[in-house]
Amino acid sequence: MSKAIRIGLIGYGFMGRTHSNAYSQVGHFFPKDKLTAGHHIVRQAVCGRDEAKVKDFAEKWGYASHETDWRKLVARADIDAIDICTPNDSHAEIALECIKHGKMILCEKPLALNGAQGEKMVEAVEKSGLPNLVWYNYRFLPAVTLAKNIVAAGELGRVFHYRANFLQDWTISTELPQGGAGLWRLDAAAAGSGVTGDLLAHCIDTARWINGDITEVSAMTETFIKERVHTATGKVHPVTIDDACIFLCRFENGSLAQFESTRYARGHKALYTFEINGEKKSLQWDLHDLNRLNYFDHAVPGDRRGWASIHTSDGDHPYSGNWWVPGLCLGYEHSFTHALAEFLKSLDDPKAPKAYPDFRHALGTQYVCDAVLESAKTKQWVKVKKA
Ligand SMILES: NC(=O)c1ccc[n+]([C@@H]2O[C@H](COP(=O)([O-])OP(=O)(O)OC[C@H]3O[C@@H](n4cnc5c(N)ncnc54)[C@H](O)[C@@H]3O)[C@@H](O)[C@H]2O)c1
Repeated sequence: MSKAIRIGLIGYGFMGRTHSNAYSQVGHFFPKDKLTAGHHIVRQAVCGRDEAKVKDFAEKWGYASHETDWRKLVARADIDAIDICTPNDSHAEIALECIKHGKMILCEKPLALNGAQGEKMVEAVEKSGLPNLVWYNYRFLPAVTLAKNIVAAGELGRVFHYRANFLQDWTISTELPQGGAGLWRLDAAAAGSGVTGDLLAHCIDTARWINGDITEVSAMTETFIKERVHTATGKVHPVTIDDACIFLCRFENGSLAQFESTRYARGHKALYTFEINGEKKSLQWDLHDLNRLNYFDHAVPGDRRGWASIHTSDGDHPYSGNWWVPGLCLGYEHSFTHALAEFLKSLDDPKAPKAYPDFRHALGTQYVCDAVLESAKTKQWVKVKKA
C-alpha cells in the first residue's frame, strides 16, 4: 500500500503557492500506484497568521484544514512532514521544533540566517534520522540537470572556469520600505543578508552541485540605498543588507570562478545565468530561456564547430518525458515538482543517492555565503568551512 505523506505547509506567500502547485501536480506526472508502492502526497493543513486569508488559501489550494499558529501545526499527530515557506529568520526555530515532534522537513532556502544556526539544524536532523530537503529548485530544471550529467560524465575534461550571475532591478526606488510581505528581504534581521543569501545562494548551490566544493572567496558588497522606512515602526532605519555582491573564488577541482548578483541592474528581472568552460566542452544556461542548454564541443570538425542550443524537451532529457510531447516547454514551477518527485523517490528507496540538497548540503552553501560576507567586510580572501 502506498504511504501517505501528510503535508503541513507554513506560509502561503510566493513559495507557499509554488510548493502547493507541486503538491497538486506530482502525483499526476510522477505517479505512484497507491495500491502497491511508494509514497504519495496529501495536502493536510496550511498555516498562516491571518485566519480569513489562510482559510481562503486552504480552500483554493485543496488543503483539508488550516491553523494560525505554526507550533500547533507542528504538534499535530496527523502531519508527517512540515514545509517551511516563511522568511529566513524563522527557518531554524521551526525546523528544530519539527525535529522534536518527529516530522520530516522540507525547508525553503537559505537553510538559516548563518552557518552557526545551520549547524544546529544539521546536528539535530542527522541525529533524528528524519528525511530533510532544502528547496534549491533550479537544479531540477531539465537543462540544468543535463549540464550536471554532462560534467559528471567527465565530458568537459579539466574544468577551468565557472561564471554565474543573478541580476534583478526591483529595489532601485528609494521609496520602497523594508519589512513586510515580500519586503522582509530588505531587512537584515529577517533575511540574514541581501542578494548573497537570497540570490547568490541559488547560484552557489547549482555551482557546488555541478562543479564541487568552493575552497576560498574574495568578495565585495555594496548597499546603494543606506536608509529606508521600516514597516514595523514607520520610521527611517539604516539598511544593512547587501544590495549587490561580486565575488571571486576557487573550487576544489582547481577551477576559477566569478559570481555577481544585484537588485540594481536596470532592465533585468531575474537573469540567472551560468557558464562552465572545460578543456573539451563548454556549457551555458540562462533562466530566461530555461529549456535550452547551450553546448560547445571542440571535437566537432573545425569548419562546423560552434555553439549548439539543445532544447531539453525530448523524452530522453531529465524529467521531460514525464510531461508533454517533445518540443513543448516546461517552466519555473516544474522545478519544484521535480524536487518533490526526487524527495518521494528517496523515501521509497532511502539507500539510493539523493538528487536533492539536504540540510548538510545547504549548510555547505551557507558557509560559502558566510565567507563571502566576511571577505567583503575584511577585504581579505576567506577560506570556506567544509560542511
Ligand atoms: N526557491 C526559490 O526559488 C525561492 C524563491 C522565493 C523565496 N524563497 C524562500 O522562501 C521563503 C519564503 O519566501 P516568500 O517569497 O514565499 O515570502 P513571502 O513574503 O511571499 O511569504 C512568506 C509567508 O510566510 C508567512 N509567515 C511569516 N511569518 C510567519 C509565522 N510566524 N507563522 C506563519 N506564517 C508566517 C507570511 O504571512 C507569508 O505568507 C524564504 O526563505 C525565501 O528565501 C525561495
